[in-house]
Amino acid sequence: MDYQIENAPFEKLKTDYLVVGIYEGQNLSPSAETVNTLTNDLICNILKRGDLEGKVGETLAINYIPENTIERILLVGLGKQDQPLSRKNFRKALTSVIKVLKSSKIKTMSCALTETNVADSDCIWKTRQVVEIFADNCYKFQQCKSIKDPEMMLETIRFITEEVDSTATQQGIQQGQAIAEGVSLAKQLADLPGNVCTPTYLADQASQVADCYDKISFEALEEADMEKLGMGSFLSVSRGSRQPAKLITLQYQGASNDDKPIVLIGKGLTFDAGGISLKPGAGMDEMKYDMCGGASVIGVLKAVAMLNLPLNIVGIVPSSENMPDGDANKPGDIVTSMSGKTIEILNTDAEGRLILCDALTYAEKFNPEVVIDLATLTGAVIVALGRNPTGLLGNDDALCADITASSETACDSVWRLPIWDEYQEQLKSNFADMANIGGKDAGTITAACFLSRFAENYRWAHLDIAGTAWRSGGANKGATGRPVPLLTQYLIDRANA
Ligand code: BES
Ligand code: MN
Ligand code: ZN
Repeated sequence: MDYQIENAPFEKLKTDYLVVGIYEGQNLSPSAETVNTLTNDLICNILKRGDLEGKVGETLAINYIPENTIERILLVGLGKQDQPLSRKNFRKALTSVIKVLKSSKIKTMSCALTETNVADSDCIWKTRQVVEIFADNCYKFQQCKSIKDPEMMLETIRFITEEVDSTATQQGIQQGQAIAEGVSLAKQLADLPGNVCTPTYLADQASQVADCYDKISFEALEEADMEKLGMGSFLSVSRGSRQPAKLITLQYQGASNDDKPIVLIGKGLTFDAGGISLKPGAGMDEMKYDMCGGASVIGVLKAVAMLNLPLNIVGIVPSSENMPDGDANKPGDIVTSMSGKTIEILNTDAEGRLILCDALTYAEKFNPEVVIDLATLTGAVIVALGRNPTGLLGNDDALCADITASSETACDSVWRLPIWDEYQEQLKSNFADMANIGGKDAGTITAACFLSRFAENYRWAHLDIAGTAWRSGGANKGATGRPVPLLTQYLIDRANA
C-alpha cells in the first residue's frame, strides 16, 4: 500500500473514494460540510432519507457523484459531536471503513478522518491508526494455499491534511508503516505451521531481517554452545525433540556503545505438545502459536530498524519444540539452569519457563537497562483476564507504569498482576531449589514468580500473551501480532524520553 499526503483542495480532488465523517443528528464533519456545498447539498439530501444516524462505525456509500472528479463518497458515523471521540471508537470507525473498501474494486482512497477530534490524540496518532488498522484488516495468511484469494485492488491511500499538519502526517505514516510491518511479520511467522516454522526456520528468518538493516546483527547459538554455557534447563526441553534448539539474538545498535540496551526476550516454542505431560488433543494445533513471543521480538526489531530509533536494543529468542520422546524430560527430573539454580520438573508442559530462565540469565551479559520478556506462558492468564489485555508482571513499578502508559497509546492493552513473596511459597520443592509449577492457584503469577528468580539482577517485566497473541478457533483464528504495537510504542516513548 502506498500512503500519500493530499494537498489538492476538495474542488480539485481526484479520487475513487473519499471518506468523510458524519456525527449523530446528521451533523457534518468539516470535510463533509465542504463536499456537501460543492455537490449542491448531495450529502444532506441523502442523509435526510434517514439511512445513516451517525452512530460510531455506521457506513453509507454514495457511489455516484454527478459531475465530479470524486467518484464515490463513503460516509462514516463518528458518534456524538459535542464530545471528543474515544480512541477505541475512532479505531472502530476506521475498521468499518476498511471493511467496505476491502470488498470494493477501487484503487485510490482519500481519507478526511484525521481532522476528527479524538481524545488525547494528535495528528501523528490518528494517521498512524489508519495505517495500522488498514494493514491489520487486510492481512491474510495465504502462503500454504494452492489457490489464493484475489489481491485487494486498493493501492493508494491519501491523507487529506491541512498544510500545517504535513510533517505530523508524514511521521504518522512512517510510524504506522513500521508497526504494521512488524505486526505483519510476527503474524506470518506465527501462522506458519510447526512443520515449517521450526527453530531453524525462525533463526533463518531472524537472520534475514538482520540482512536488511545495517544496524541489526544476528547470532544463533547451537545446542553445543548452550551446553558450554550450562543452559541445562533450556536444553532439557529440546532433548525431547528431533529439531535442534536455537538461541537467537538480534542486536540493534542505534545509539553509542555506552548506552545500556533494552533487552526483549520472546518465548519461541515452535510447537508445544506438552512433552511427556502430553496435552489433550483438542485444539493442540494452536500450540504452533507458542512461538508468538519470539515472532513479536523479531517483528519489533524490524519496526525499530524502520524507525531508525536512537536506542540500543537486544532481542533474544530461545527457540525449541516441546515433544514427548524417549529422551524427553520426565516428571520428577531435576535439571540445573545456567544460573546454577536447580529445578524439579513436576510438569513437562511448563516448559516455557524452563527455556526462558536460561535466556534471562544469558541476558545479563548485555548489561541491560531493562529486560522485558514476552511469552505465551500460561493458560491461566486467559482464565484471569480473558483475551483482551496481556498479563503484565514485574519487579519494578516504574517499568510497569511505563509499559502500561505505552500500552494505552498503542491501544494494545495490559493489566498488571502482583508477584508478592507469598506466592513464591508455591514453588517449593523437596528435592531441588524450586519446582517448575506452583499448583492450580494463580498459575500466571506463580509462572512469573519462577521467572523472577532469574531476573534479580536487573529491572524486569514479563508479558503473558497467551490470551492475546492469537485468536482461537472459529473463522477468525489467526495470529494478532500483539504485543508488537505496545513494545514499539514503548521504544518510541523511550527514544523520546
Ligand atoms: N504454551 C502453554 C501455555 C498456553 C496454554 C498458552 C494454552 C495458550 C493456551 C504453556 O507451555 C503451558 O503448557 N502451560 C501450562 C502450565 C501448567 C502445566 C502449569 C498451562 O498453562 O496449562
Ligand atoms: Mn507447555
Ligand atoms: Zn508452552
